Amino acid sequence: MKKNTIGIVGLGQMGEAIALGLRETHSISATTKSKESAAAAKKDLKINCHNDNVKLAKECDVLVLCVKPHQAQSVLEEMRSALNSKHLVISIAAGITTEQIRKWTGGKPSVVRAMPNTPCLIGDGMTAYCGASGQTSEDDLAIAGKIFGSIGQAVRVEEEQMDGVTGLSGCGPAYVYLMIESLSEAGVKVGLPRKVATLLAAQTLMGASKMVLERGEHPAALKDEVTTPAGCTIDGLMALEEGKLRVTLIKAVLAATERSRGLRGK
Ligand SMILES: NC(=O)c1ccc[n+]([C@@H]2O[C@H](COP(=O)([O-])OP(=O)(O)OC[C@H]3O[C@@H](n4cnc5c(N)ncnc54)[C@H](OP(=O)(O)O)[C@@H]3O)[C@@H](O)[C@H]2O)c1
Repeated sequence: MKKNTIGIVGLGQMGEAIALGLRETHSISATTKSKESAAAAKKDLKINCHNDNVKLAKECDVLVLCVKPHQAQSVLEEMRSALNSKHLVISIAAGITTEQIRKWTGGKPSVVRAMPNTPCLIGDGMTAYCGASGQTSEDDLAIAGKIFGSIGQAVRVEEEQMDGVTGLSGCGPAYVYLMIESLSEAGVKVGLPRKVATLLAAQTLMGASKMVLERGEHPAALKDEVTTPAGCTIDGLMALEEGKLRVTLIKAVLAATERSRGLRGK
């Protein structure tokens, strides 16, 4: 990776996750809005953090935009005069397109749009990313892949798929926490101590996820392995089908995808 000085614009929850994942291998600087959070980042995270976005753009050749979507336009327009064709701007702002980023940055820098998720905080994130059609070089896309690959898994997608990515893996950790919480409640209902029930639920989700990722089999085939004829699992599955779990999850992803589409232009 040639571009080595990375600036995190907005060292909040996601910005911090990315900074912590990269600081062993790269020189990291960052900005926040308030002086207090910049001082806290310096003290607690030992990251060079200030409030001057223009200075950050002059210091760094890769800028990762981690402010809220409604703050993206003003922050990029503020930095615009300091941006040139050597810069790579990677935005993680939900719903904001590469076209918008290019417009707000003045069209000179290379642009990547990415959607990570909160498990990036522990190095187990899932990020999908894309370039601006006909503009972003393969080298810059590879840089983005390496950055997000250092805090979990990273996959390249087409830009039109990014709202769907937001609805699935961007928001997905919240769906999974709800499932873990519900399974844990169920454990309490059948007499297990809450701590044990939560451990059983969380480790079961993690183990099953690893089976899918490592064995590469269709989830339905793995489900069939657990489901013995006239056994207990088929009764549990019947209850889930009655409760419309599948269609509920599909609707959750659709609703969040639509919301992501709606963030544009606000
Ligand atoms: N959270 C998620 O699960 C998730 C997942 C994928 C993508 N995203 C995207 O990640 C982005 C950040 O989300 P987050 O949850 O990390 O938000 P957050 O914790 O609220 O962090 C936002 C950061 O931006 C800083 N900021 C605000 N205005 C600024 C300015 N003018 N100049 C410099 N810094 C400024 C804030 O500084 P102060 O602390 O001083 O206010 C704060 O550090 C969003 O665009 C979101 O769509 C989030």
